[in-house]
Amino acid sequence: MLKQVLLQATKAAAEIIKEYSTRSFTISNKEGINNLVTEVDHKSEEVIFGIIKENFPGHQILSEEYGEIVQDSNYKWIIDPIDGTINFANHIPVCCVSIGIEVNGKIEMGAVYNPFIDEFFFAQRGYGATLNEAKISVSEQSELVKSCLATGFPYTYLDMPNGPLEVFSKFIRKGVPVRRLGSAAIDLCYVAAGRFEGFYEHKLNAWDSAAGFLIVEEAGGKVTDMNGDVYNPYKPGIIATNGLIHDDLLAVVKGGEV
Ligand code: IPD
Ligand code: CA
Ligand code: CA
Repeated sequence: MLKQVLLQATKAAAEIIKEYSTRSFTISNKEGINNLVTEVDHKSEEVIFGIIKENFPGHQILSEEYGEIVQDSNYKWIIDPIDGTINFANHIPVCCVSIGIEVNGKIEMGAVYNPFIDEFFFAQRGYGATLNEAKISVSEQSELVKSCLATGFPYTYLDMPNGPLEVFSKFIRKGVPVRRLGSAAIDLCYVAAGRFEGFYEHKLNAWDSAAGFLIVEEAGGKVTDMNGDVYNPYKPGIIATNGLIHDDLLAVVKGGEV
């Protein structure tokens, strides 16, 4: 039942996103100059909320645009109604709906769907990860210098030691490819599918990473924070890899050389 509702909500929201992508829609600014939100983010969120409330009115919700619905429940839906809003606003088909479900403080299920290329990633704790219902697993590359990596940058520059640009430049100077797709949820799923060996980002929110985290773990990968400690969706930094390059990537993020 939980899985059915998760799939239904993810697909319904993705349908809205696809439908609006060929129409005109309003775009407004959140804090900062380029932190955008479109009317479609809100519409996607409304559809998801409607389906959750119809089926599980007592569940808690944390969603990027709306905020939180706190209730006395062990279940919490963690929602990014469009991950990759800047891409969406610019008609770049690299964006998705991302929904994770936390039960008693642990992410138990996650779904990430990019309707533009019809890629539906799903994981349930203990049951593996799938792409369009076929099992996926992380890559077997064990050398960091031979890896294809991904990262993202926050809307406001993080001027800190070993910050996003510093780490990025280390890889680029050594010729290690680091992609910047503009959707953290998709980046994580691509690690799960073996397309990237690793992904790191200094500042994410729970809605960006909750679903993708489980998809990577269930595909056999490893996810930690930027100190190498247990991943916490409510803390900003994340490193997700195929497991084999994890320690080496972590060392660079912490200030070491490639
Ligand atoms: C953003 C994307 C992007 C990442 C940003 C996120 P949004 O989410 O995931 O890849 O670099 O940190 O905020 O704003 O498109 O939902
Ligand atoms: Ca996001
Ligand atoms: Ca978003």
